[in-house]
Amino acid sequence: MQSKSVITVLGAGYVGLATAALFAQAGFRVYVVEPNKERLDTIKQGRSFFYEEGLDSVIELGIKSGSLLPTDSYEESVPKSDIVFSCVGTPDNPDGSSNLTYVFDAAKTAAKLMKPGTVYAQKSTVPVGTGSQIQQLFAGMCVDIDYVSNPEFLREGTALADTLFFDRVVVGGESSAAIDAVIDAYRDLEDHRDHIAHIARVPVAVQGDQYIATTLNSAELIKVTSNAFLALKISFANSIAMLADKANADVIEVMDAVGADRRIGRSFLNAGRGYGGGCFPKDVSGLISSALEYGVDLEIMHAAQNLNNQMPGYIVDKLQDELGESLNGKRVAVLGLAFKAGTSDVRKSPGVAMANKLSYAGAEVITYDPEAREEAAPDLLNHILQAETIDSAIENADIVLLATEWRQIIDYPATLLAEKMSGSILFDAINQYDALEAQRAGLTYIGVGR
Ligand code: UDX
Repeated sequence: MQSKSVITVLGAGYVGLATAALFAQAGFRVYVVEPNKERLDTIKQGRSFFYEEGLDSVIELGIKSGSLLPTDSYEESVPKSDIVFSCVGTPDNPDGSSNLTYVFDAAKTAAKLMKPGTVYAQKSTVPVGTGSQIQQLFAGMCVDIDYVSNPEFLREGTALADTLFFDRVVVGGESSAAIDAVIDAYRDLEDHRDHIAHIARVPVAVQGDQYIATTLNSAELIKVTSNAFLALKISFANSIAMLADKANADVIEVMDAVGADRRIGRSFLNAGRGYGGGCFPKDVSGLISSALEYGVDLEIMHAAQNLNNQMPGYIVDKLQDELGESLNGKRVAVLGLAFKAGTSDVRKSPGVAMANKLSYAGAEVITYDPEAREEAAPDLLNHILQAETIDSAIENADIVLLATEWRQIIDYPATLLAEKMSGSILFDAINQYDALEAQRAGLTYIGVGR
């Protein structure tokens, strides 16, 4: 593939917008198709409509140089493209299965417009077997399009660094030429990555750099298996944390030593309020329901999911136990609403869930998040207040609950906390605060599994 190839990215969500903005810095002309007018206008002005570290600077540069072309039109973009990346949303159905309406609609609309030989690369997370159905759809429309699965592994908050300094790029499909075309595009990105990292001010990372070509179904399964395994690690750590709470052990000490075994690894063993976001909860339920369609009951994933759903309630119960009295009328400051630091995303956010549970329990809840205030507002119960600053949130609080690992939250000095609060309970639901510092300042530090 020449570096002058044209790319279209369908869908400007967390994955699509980062993908488009980065390829636009690697010598490609990139159309990014977004139907929502308000979002599209924001991108055209050189900004993202959600917060993601470093993203605005690459969008701005792409818009100024003309290499990033936001549009709401398939007709304007798709016919000119050599590769079309599908990054449309896959919301979950009430039964936990993935809603693939947008995935199929995008493929159908694009197929009518793609020139022969175009590669259609699926980045949206779909159940194993979906790609074969789309291939059949293309065959039925008599179009000469190569379909590949190119699963996405980027994390929100570190989306740019993850895409530039990837562990692996997986491309699965039947046509080796199509697989090579997609891999070549990533090689171009790799060639430009130090420069792009500099523009976006994201740290240059050490990476595995593997390109892995597989069959179509394997690629689809690799994506959900990766996320399911990480979710499993977190739920496993949380179940051990529950035991540590009872057995008077410290889950951090346990996981540090367990994770020092290279066969196990330390990552994703941080116990706390559980996982949230647009991926893990959805991918786990999607995997469970797609496996059931093949007649396989993934009980282990049911267990991981149930445990995760229990965590916000477990934390509120533990707080109640430590308090020894009702939460009714107690002023609780919940610090952090985003499902993790570095993003404004509040989908399935444990911070929001805990704030709502505390409010149900009669507490007077005041929340603070540096980036997610607007996005969290519709999900918070009516009586919950949102503070503009961390200081005003903790002022006169009986209890402070840490829910997201933003630096300004975990680095907030314990002495100031103790000074401003009227009570003394610091519940660290992310296990990231310095417990000793808290105790030295006279606070009662409570963690999860500690
Ligand atoms: C995840 C995958 O990591 C990524 O590869 C995939 O493409 C999309 O889904 P993301 O959801 O952005 O990425 O965030 P991630 O950093 O994986 O965290 C997910 C959730 O797990 C967060 O709520 C985080 O706080 C929680 N978590 C993570 C833990 O509770 N403990 C841990 O040890 C790690």
